Amino acid sequence: MSNSLVVDAETTRTGEIKLHGPEGFEGMRRAGRLAAECLDALSPLVAPGAVTDELDRIAREFILDHGALPACLLYRGYPKATCISINHVVCHGIPGPRQLREGDVVNIDVTVIVDGWHGDHSRMWGVGAISPRAQRLIDVTYEGLARGLAAIRPGARTGDIGHAIQSFVEQQRCSVVTDFCGHGLGRVFHDAPNILHFGKADTGELLRPGMFFTVEPMVNLGRPQVKVLADGWTAVTRDKSLSAQCEHSVGVTETGVEIFTESPAGLFKPT
Ligand code: MF3
Ligand code: CO
Ligand code: CO
Repeated sequence: MSNSLVVDAETTRTGEIKLHGPEGFEGMRRAGRLAAECLDALSPLVAPGAVTDELDRIAREFILDHGALPACLLYRGYPKATCISINHVVCHGIPGPRQLREGDVVNIDVTVIVDGWHGDHSRMWGVGAISPRAQRLIDVTYEGLARGLAAIRPGARTGDIGHAIQSFVEQQRCSVVTDFCGHGLGRVFHDAPNILHFGKADTGELLRPGMFFTVEPMVNLGRPQVKVLADGWTAVTRDKSLSAQCEHSVGVTETGVEIFTESPAGLFKPT
């Protein structure tokens, strides 16, 4: 599994990139909003002592109670509804008995399926008081995503997104993880194109109205290398440095970008 994930991130797909119409935008708005509402509901529970498996249970029940499905549950055998990645865990942390502790940097990643459409979304939190280095990592990751999203408009290319993220993150003396990437989505969870969070401007796929994909940079305080633990999922930094991530699902519009996973409660920006 670790190898296949790494290969996913590095293989250029030849698959067609789907272009969606108004019906697709409507579907993605509903899926994206539910994913954001799910994390809005979890947000006040992210505190010292919270058990990650309990946060996952609450997310799963929230999703099912709203007539949706948790896309991650049993996806390629994944055992939970959410990924909860703490400190040096880069992504795909599996919820379990671990309690959140003051000072942790945590990401919760949730994907919902509403009427067949996928809303994929993740946020970062500092648990209680966190170190200045941890806060800086969160700020750089948030701004990295913002700069990637700002590069999206018809006529731009996927490489412009990666370049915007990487140039900012490295200027801040952090590193971008290259083994995992964003992805097309819609009725399919992980589709073409790959959205690399690094790269050269004016390279890659041309962005066109109706394309749907995620942008979900993983940023490390130390080196970019990762490894996947024996559970086949949990990706960690090789140098044990802190890692952070946040993710939006978006659509390319006639004039720019529409973010489907904006928080109705205004809770996306980490405080
Ligand atoms: N939500 C993750 C993403 O951003 C995918 C997690 S797949 C899982 O693409 F199986 F690990 F849940
Ligand atoms: Co994703
Ligand atoms: Co996700």
